[in-house]
This record gives sequence, C-alpha cells and structure tokens, in this order.
Amino acid sequence: MADAADYDPMRQFAELAGDVRDPYPMFEGIRAETPVLHIELGGGPGRYRHDEKAPRITELFTVSSYELAQQVLTDHERFSSAATAMTVGPVMGRTILEMDPPEHQRHRALVARAFRARVLDQWRDTVIGATVTELVDAFVADGHADLVPQLTFPFPVRVIARILGLPEADWPDFVRLSTQVIAVMRNWDGAVAAGRELRGYFAEIIADRRKHPRDDLVSQLIAAEVDGRRLSDDEIYPFLLLLLPAGVETTYRSSGNLLFGLLSHPDQLDRVRADRSLVPQAIEETLRWETPVLSVARLATQDVELGGVRIPAGGFVAVSLGAANRDPHRYADPDAFDVMREDVQSTAFGNGIHKCLGMHLARMEMRVLLDAVLDRLPGLRLDPAAEDTHIHGLIFRSPPNLPVRFDVR
Ligand code: HEM
Repeated sequence: MADAADYDPMRQFAELAGDVRDPYPMFEGIRAETPVLHIELGGGPGRYRHDEKAPRITELFTVSSYELAQQVLTDHERFSSAATAMTVGPVMGRTILEMDPPEHQRHRALVARAFRARVLDQWRDTVIGATVTELVDAFVADGHADLVPQLTFPFPVRVIARILGLPEADWPDFVRLSTQVIAVMRNWDGAVAAGRELRGYFAEIIADRRKHPRDDLVSQLIAAEVDGRRLSDDEIYPFLLLLLPAGVETTYRSSGNLLFGLLSHPDQLDRVRADRSLVPQAIEETLRWETPVLSVARLATQDVELGGVRIPAGGFVAVSLGAANRDPHRYADPDAFDVMREDVQSTAFGNGIHKCLGMHLARMEMRVLLDAVLDRLPGLRLDPAAEDTHIHGLIFRSPPNLPVRFDVR
C-alpha cells in the first residue's frame, strides 16, 4: 500500500464535519414551520443529476419531527433504502445499507451472527479493553493530552482492524485508506481510489484466510452461507468497506461527544465518576443530545403523504436524526445534556429493519473507553488554557479536539 506518513486524517475529518457549531436552532425553526420540508437544490429539472463524478440530488424532503422520523424508518415498504446506493454505493459497492427485503434479511442475518452477544463478550477484554489500555498507556504519565487524536480517533479503527484480524504493520495504511473512503462526500475521486486500493488489500487478506482460517471476522464471512451457498469475494468486500463508516467514524465521533458532554458539565462528570451505574445512561443521553450521524436517506417508493406534505414516488427523503432527537414534543428541555434524564431512547441508531447492527458493540466500546478514562485519569478536566473546545458539524458531529489535564499518580 502507498505511504501513509504524510497523511493527516484528523485534518480531513475536521473539514468533513464542517464548522457548524450549533445547527439546533435551525432544526427547531424548520420543525416549527413544517415537520417535512421540501428543498429545491437547483440543477435543472428532474430529481437527480448524474454527472461524470457523483450523482447529485436536486430536490429533497427533510423530516425533522421524532414521530415522523420513526414512521419513515419503520416503513421500509414506502421508504426504500435504495437511496443509499446514490450516496455511498459507488464507493462501497452493494452493502446491506442500501438493500430492501427480501435481499436485506438474507444478508443481514449472515453478518448479524458475527455481532452476536457471545462474540461481543469475547471482544470486550481482548480487543476493546486491550486497545484502550495501549492508547491510554501512551499519555497517562504526561498529565495532559488531546483526547481526540490520542484516544477517540485511533480507538475504533484499531478495534475494527483487530476484529478483522489485520496485521498490526498494516494499520497506518488501513487508517489512511479508511479515512479517505469515509470522506466520500468531500472528495469523491479520492474515496473511489481508496476504495479500490482497500479492495486490493482485502483480496490478499481473504485469499490468505481461505487457505488459513482463523478466529476473525473475515474467516467467519468466508465460512458463512446465504441460500445454501458461500459468499464470493465481491460480496464480502462491500461488507468490509461498510464497517469503516459504520463502525469507525460513528464510534469515534460518539466517544468524543460523550467525553465532551461530561467534561463540559463537570457536576455530571462527578456524578458518573462516583456512581458507575450511570455510565450506560450517560451514553444514551450523549447519543440523543449530540447524535453523531445527523441524517439517513430513503427513497419514496410511491406517492406518500407525510405530515401533510405530498412526497412524489422517487422523492429523496432525508430523515434528520439530529432534529428528531431534540424534538420538544418528545423530550422535555431537549437542548439540555442530562445524564439523569428518564426515557432517553433516541433514534441515533436508526430504527426498523436497518437499525444499527453494531449498536451493542458501539455501546460496549463507549463503556470500556469511559471506564478506562475515569479509572486511569484522576482529576480529569478540560484544559483551562484551551478556550474554544466545541462540537461541530452538519453531516457528522463531534469535537475536533479535546485538550485535557489530569493528575499523575
Ligand atoms: C455510536 C455509534 C454508531 C452509530 C450512531 C450508528 C448509527 C447507525 C445508523 C443511524 C444506522 C441506520 C442507517 C439507516 O437506517 O439507513 C446504522 C446502521 C448500521 N450500522 Fe451503525 N452506528 C454506530 C456504530 C456501529 C458499529 C460499531 C458498527 C459495526 C462495527 C455498525 C454497523 C452498522 C451496520 C452494518 C449498519 C447497517 C444495518 C442495515 O442496513 O441493516 N454501526 N448505524
């Protein structure tokens, strides 16, 4: 693989997030006016433009109320996931994210086995715990750190690399290519090229595991069967590529949001530190309060009336998970971060047949990470010298930096 030395994934990710600090007043303004907003993006007649680069959507309907978001997500007959084929499909290939039933069930059932509880428990210490330990070891004696580049960013990509059984020497290149694939909306050509390169890399790994099966996810996918037949390499690649945006980007961003939420509310950080049974609640509240993936896409399969708005068959629908999770009709005082909030379940992991396959893994990763931070970094606080620590982004949201200080034992 090509040289990873001069590549700065953090800069690319900060750019991808966009510097929108607080989109929530805008979401609230739109929701107050209409729960389903029709937006013309220009570019001439027709709903989509296909130029030589990327397909371009020329009009869309954004759904911002909690109730209607749930309605769209759980109605796969009228709202198809084929929309995803127009956004990330050309880079990742045909993934379960863009499949509708019955194809979706068959493929999902196959990979779901790899994320079952028993496997997850087995990864808790050997994969997730080991990864957090080695990252924290590197700065625990310093008394200060930037927890994004030093902890939350490298964390999930190493977890996935370990789950896939990739050799450690390949990790820097794997991180570089993964980052480029994920940045598809920003740099289409770069993402397509990186996707191709990763496919070549995975081809070597798959060929090796066919000869020498191991206890890793690639070997499990090779051994799995759909409709009585084994998957071909071309069916395995898209799933491996999907794990990068699905399993890496989301978790790194939500881990950063969790730490930011607690560090910027020190009273709540103290409560969680004193009572670890609050950790799962803190995680759920973070996912609601700062949803890392702000929207998911669907295509109307027929003319639909939603919230009093007519969406024509073929209409591109963007479900705003971020807006739904701050809907005042669903949550009291929705803008407040409150780890004691009751009934905090949100749409951060989606809903319906495409509900996040990795949500148990993501929750476990966040839990192990937060416990390690609380155990090993006493007196953890935002660095008082750093004035502008914040969350930003309009497509994805997370803090670009988390400069902190802590006591050295
Ligand atoms: C906090 C972290 C995460 C968030 C917020 C998140 C969010 C989501 C959302 C919103 C969807 C639904 C997309 C749709 O309906 O179009 C989804 C699907 C999916 N996620 Fe996650 N995800 C996270 C972590 C993970 C992890 C760690 C993995 C695996 C390693 C993963 C794998 C997947 C897969 C495979 C799907 C597709 C499921 C399907 O189409 O049936 N996710 N995720």
